[in-house]
Amino acid sequence: MLCGYLLVSIMSTTFAESRSVVPHAEEQIAALLGQMTLAEKIGQMNQVHAGDMDAVEVLGDALRAGKIGSIINQVDVATVNELQRIAVEESRLGIPLLVGRDVIHGFKTVMPIPIGQAATWNPDVVRQGARVAAREAAKSGINWTFAPMIDITRDPRWGRIAESPGEDPYLASRLAVAMVEGFQGDDLTAAGTIAACAKHFAGYGEAESGRDYATTNIPENELRNVHLRPFRAAVDAGVLTLMASFSDLNGVPATGNEFLMRQVLRDEWGFNGFVVSDWNSIHQLAIHGLTADDKSSALEAATAGVDMDMAGRVYAGHLEELVEDGTLDIDVIDAAVINILRAKFRLGLFENSYTDPDTLPPIANPEALATAKTAALQSVVMLKNDNKVLPLSTDRLERVAVVGPLADAPYEQLGTWIFDGDRELSVTALQGIRDLVGDQVQVDYVRAMKMSRSTSTEPFDEAVAAAGRSDAVLLFLGEESILSGEAHSRADINLPGAQAELVRRVRETGKPVIAVIMAGRPLTLTNIVDNVDAILFAWHPGTMGGPAIAELLFGLESPSGKLPVTFPRMVGQIPIYHSQKNTGKPPTPEKVVHIDDIDARAPQTSLGMAAFHLDAGYTPLFPFGFGLSYAEFAYGDIRVSADEIPVGGTITVSADLTNHGDVAADEVAQLYVRDLVGNVTRPVRELKGFRRLRVAPGETVTVSFELHTDDLAFYGRDNTLMVEPGDFHAWVGGSSDTGLRTAFRVVAGD
Ligand code: BGC
Repeated sequence: MLCGYLLVSIMSTTFAESRSVVPHAEEQIAALLGQMTLAEKIGQMNQVHAGDMDAVEVLGDALRAGKIGSIINQVDVATVNELQRIAVEESRLGIPLLVGRDVIHGFKTVMPIPIGQAATWNPDVVRQGARVAAREAAKSGINWTFAPMIDITRDPRWGRIAESPGEDPYLASRLAVAMVEGFQGDDLTAAGTIAACAKHFAGYGEAESGRDYATTNIPENELRNVHLRPFRAAVDAGVLTLMASFSDLNGVPATGNEFLMRQVLRDEWGFNGFVVSDWNSIHQLAIHGLTADDKSSALEAATAGVDMDMAGRVYAGHLEELVEDGTLDIDVIDAAVINILRAKFRLGLFENSYTDPDTLPPIANPEALATAKTAALQSVVMLKNDNKVLPLSTDRLERVAVVGPLADAPYEQLGTWIFDGDRELSVTALQGIRDLVGDQVQVDYVRAMKMSRSTSTEPFDEAVAAAGRSDAVLLFLGEESILSGEAHSRADINLPGAQAELVRRVRETGKPVIAVIMAGRPLTLTNIVDNVDAILFAWHPGTMGGPAIAELLFGLESPSGKLPVTFPRMVGQIPIYHSQKNTGKPPTPEKVVHIDDIDARAPQTSLGMAAFHLDAGYTPLFPFGFGLSYAEFAYGDIRVSADEIPVGGTITVSADLTNHGDVAADEVAQLYVRDLVGNVTRPVRELKGFRRLRVAPGETVTVSFELHTDDLAFYGRDNTLMVEPGDFHAWVGGSSDTGLRTAFRVVAGD
């Protein structure tokens, strides 16, 4: 095999010679299409798996015959270059390959899992993380990632919540745009930029009971007001591709869903990139029961608007016959091929099909590691800090006990979807703490549990002894990475194994207990929350999680993450999320009756008559947007620039934010709005803006949010976008349950 990156200088002798890219790309695409046989067209619509094999040997002939448009899962750059060379030089038309890979939250250098990145509420850091990932992946010849995953989900049982931006469409939209910008950059032809793929289109995050791949039933109005919004934002940001979801949406699996892929995506949004199926999801249309066999699945998916078949070989096996027997119009094929070729042109692949890894920055360079550390620092959410037990001080401590299965777990801290993540680069929390305290503080480490799921309590005696000797106990709890991610849903989202018992035993020592929790999802922490003094929720924090956690524990930086998803008290509350509807019988604290307080003969009407659970009330354990700080932030003087705005106008909502504490820290100020009367009922609160600000001790800053009436638009009863005149409430604060409120009115414009 030729050494790939030497091939950079070898120009294709076929199509590549005869054209330049934009602005004449559309004509060039048409010209190229005109030369293609049906088999070559279908070849472009075929993506094949190219990992775990001698890909050159296995795929060479098909490439030469123009029967493959894209490969997935080959990351050896020499092999990728050789596959490109065969496609470009040895196939009749010399069309280069799209080289796809799941680069979800980093390549070798791993950022926090996406739900952790969402907890930063920092689009800049998210954009930077995607840029690092793109540069590292591009060194392997990858030119297309299957990210961002932007499925809204309100179900922490679902394993893929780890990959998602959480529950809120506004936050998800902002982060979707940041990721697309990070991967794709300003110039897709530049070295180190790769095509992004917004997935999974659409509704996947509503999987029934959080069981992966399960059915979703989402009314069109809810689909448009919630689930489609981040996809629209990604499309507007120029995302090159979308991936159809595995799931069944309202009876029509997304992979065969014409409403989604034609009506909404193409006709309404004007998307001109291409849509790829999910892995073998065209074949699965028959398993869903939508079609009888692969041939009809190919027909349904192509007609619905899936341009490329990922790893299914269903298009390769059946499209030709469908066109030849007149069942499928050739225009459908042509449109798909044009979309795919357009993406290849935009990536500049015809000009530059090969990868020279030496032209890209080294893997895990200082900037990459610094980005991973900043992302980890900002992703950690402090959920509790009684009596200011945190931050710890190296001056006041002599000895700490570091206990638990996730303190020194370099692989686990990387989280799910890290095919290429390098565990050798991971700095664990134990290492981070040791590096930070040096010989000032003695660190006693007891793992206590082989893994989070262990049930043996035998090693707890040693942990308790270490705790007893120490001035503070740092408990590293949570879930291994394998417990979240695709097809890794849980019905019980308590800390697994004997972890709650470990907390209880350590608590008995009377020492301050600080829990650092690494997990791929919100957990129900009700059974441990009262047995610890402080909680840092660190998600799976990635390569640089250890130093970040150490710096937060010892106060070199203040925690500043905010929850991108609501934490329930118990599983039975799910779905519980901040933008719920009011209902006709909204609960209030006075109405809540606890199950233990019900008289034996209590009449029905004495039980509150409101929307709450007798055993859980109606509030979550920790609300969306929540997160504590070492600073003491207070909001005041919320105000609006005008009491009324005409439709089409803009209003400014402001509040003062003061840091009454004695350390500088970042705060994420949040703007929520309620539309009091709607053509369809509106949520009790909707996030409409946020801003991360650094505030010095004693400083007061004014936080202002501009709201255009378009920002208040929603899909009404007829599922068209509308802005309605009427009364609105607005809140500014540090969490979705903040109390500082003002009001304004939207009036009909001129
Ligand atoms: C997942 C996608 C992923 C694809 C390729 C599928 O199982 O649902 O998110 O991009 O595999 O690895």
